[in-house]
Amino acid sequence: MAETPTVYVTREIPDAGVEQLREQYDVVVWDEKLPPEKSHVESRLRELDADGLLCMLSDEVDADVLDASPDLSVVSTFSVGYDHVDLEAAAERDIAVGHTPGVLTETTADLAWTLLMACARRTVEAHEYVEAGEWETWGPTLMMGADVHDATLGIVGLGSIGTATARRGAGFGMDVLYTGRQRKPEREAELEELGVEATYVELDELLAESDFVSLHVPLVEETEGLIGEAELQQMSEDAILVNTARGEVVDTDALDTALEEEWIARAGLDVTDPEPLPADHQLMRHAPEKLVVVPHIGSSSVATRSRIAEMAAANVEAGIEGEELPNSALGDAGLE
Ligand code: NAP
Ligand code: GLV
Repeated sequence: MAETPTVYVTREIPDAGVEQLREQYDVVVWDEKLPPEKSHVESRLRELDADGLLCMLSDEVDADVLDASPDLSVVSTFSVGYDHVDLEAAAERDIAVGHTPGVLTETTADLAWTLLMACARRTVEAHEYVEAGEWETWGPTLMMGADVHDATLGIVGLGSIGTATARRGAGFGMDVLYTGRQRKPEREAELEELGVEATYVELDELLAESDFVSLHVPLVEETEGLIGEAELQQMSEDAILVNTARGEVVDTDALDTALEEEWIARAGLDVTDPEPLPADHQLMRHAPEKLVVVPHIGSSSVATRSRIAEMAAANVEAGIEGEELPNSALGDAGLE
């Protein structure tokens, strides 16, 4: 009788995903709070002769990991972003790679808006003010922030999450500027139906004209450091930058200077470089007055994380069974 395939899961994920896998496979889960070292992932894959790897965005999956088990047929990441997986190396080895597009779009857009609103209306700073017992009276100039309604929202990368973030601007009467590699007439039409006028512009114009700039591009060579010193200087001194894409899309030192020298008003970050961001990192000296940071929780709602688990498990199953993956990162990256 053929051996039961083995799947290595690099963190505890919502039950739905693991239960789905346990019905058919031997499943081994790394159950520590911190992620396993890369060398540990390699040795576990080797010892287990693993057929599948269900990994997180915090795991680097390079050629060494892919070569650890000769039986490895699929890597499935518990994320839509796949910048941590060496796709070329996987394609060369005929190892399928799955990811989870779509399912987390709305939840991540909600978080982009959470940061946008928190920065605009200084809610974290205001909460800390109350907590510190400084609220002695109503103040005519207390915690004056920026209006969100009728403002201009700049979307860098009008893909799934960028569009969902722009769509939310309808309720606030916002105009939307967007940029990317190409104009997106279908996305413009979708937004127009909601009363949002979305205009394609070059990045320079978007930075100069937007009250809020929200980043939604994947991390690839061309987007690494996309927002650096020159770009931050192009923004208005009242503008707010929101990053729910990847930390490396923004040059951290440049952002630090921009906040220090008040080239921009505030920034809201779900993703950072480095990640995790240590509490004593120089950037944190701006919090909470100019900076709101949350620990990469964009897709973290109970329902969405459960669905991500199921999708990631479905990708593992398809890979092990030799079927086409429901959501192939290799396909989406044009490598199939
Ligand atoms: P998507 O639908 O593929 O959208 C990506 C957008 O970026 C598209 O508009 C794409 O436009 C543009 N783009 C791609 N490559 C580009 C390049 N080289 N230069 C400029 N623009 C480029 O992806 P999504 O689902 O919206 O996710 C976007 C990213 O958000 C993910 O890759 C991930 O890194 C991040 N994310 C973060 C969280 C979180 O928890 N904070 C959650 C989910 C996703 P064209 O290809 O047409 O140019
Ligand atoms: C989260 O960052 C993801 O890429 O899913």
